[in-house]
Amino acid sequence: MATTKFTIPRSVIWKDESISLLNQQKIPHVTEYLELTTIEAVWEAIQTLKVRGAPAIGITAAYGLALSALQDQSNSLEAFQLNLKQNRDYLASSRPTAVNLVWALDRLVTSLVETKSINEAKTKLVHEAIQIQVEDEEVCRLIGEHALSVFNDGDRIMTICNAGSIATAKYGTALAPFYLAKEKNKALSVFACETRPVFQGARLTTWELMQADVDVTLITDNMAAHTIKSKKISAIIVGADRIAANGDTANKIGTFNLALLAKSFNIPFYVAAPLSTFDPSISDGNKIPIEERNPEEVTEVNGVRIAPEGVKVFNPAFDVTPSELITGIITEKGILSGDYQVLISELFTL
Ligand code: MRU
Repeated sequence: MATTKFTIPRSVIWKDESISLLNQQKIPHVTEYLELTTIEAVWEAIQTLKVRGAPAIGITAAYGLALSALQDQSNSLEAFQLNLKQNRDYLASSRPTAVNLVWALDRLVTSLVETKSINEAKTKLVHEAIQIQVEDEEVCRLIGEHALSVFNDGDRIMTICNAGSIATAKYGTALAPFYLAKEKNKALSVFACETRPVFQGARLTTWELMQADVDVTLITDNMAAHTIKSKKISAIIVGADRIAANGDTANKIGTFNLALLAKSFNIPFYVAAPLSTFDPSISDGNKIPIEERNPEEVTEVNGVRIAPEGVKVFNPAFDVTPSELITGIITEKGILSGDYQVLISELFTL
């Protein structure tokens, strides 16, 4: 297996009795790790975006559930299982859109089938959470390999939000090809949309890519059309939070705008996502729950008010890109392109 050397810190580190979490709220100014020792602290870290990005949320929630299980004092396996179910539901309520969250939690719960004792259950839960993180790194590397195959030397590629290393176990999804390109001496340039209102593009994507010496240029979101035209952008690549059975894809608010621009400029629009981001139980994008967040994210910048008191605010954190605007969905299993309904059902049929 190829090893790629770059210096981005891990976002989640399991410490047996606590979780060490890179505080993404403070990046790029401060690189600090929070020590989370309770399930409530894990819920709060996910809800307040101290950790964010679909796979990283799933990994953190899995460790949070394992942590709560290790602290469980139940006398019977039945009582332990009941607490586990309640803690699973509690963590699942921290954010609604990224399906990786419930995917990871349910994977832990399912790992307990045929478990005979509480101690065995605790060991299995920790093992499963670690496994999810280990697998995600390899999955992201494979996504990067596949994504790299659609880019040419010298390409300028636009992205939004942060679907990078700190949003996953390593490498990222949409950003993975840029790390792998470095290793293979393929010159790719990234144009990062700032990603209002939380600025994941400005704060996180630029920070990540600059540390790995990837060529990155920051633009505000409303510069996208002009930039595609004037800088000759060759493709757009984004991550995903949930992909419905027909390929409709929820991702950071503003993604749908970019997909429409890609169509207008006749350039490819790629979604990069692991299979854990697919939700084949949901028929189409209209049924994906879209998180609406605090109005202050829109009316304030860094705690400074920029809008009149009392103004009405609409703050959806995600939008849904219809599958017909997606050139390809890049997964660890390869690139899906064409009739997504059929391709996704094939992928999830045993
Ligand atoms: O609100 P966020 O920052 O959690 O939103 C993140 C995104 O939309 C990412 O693009 C997505 O989760 C994929 S991360 C590999």
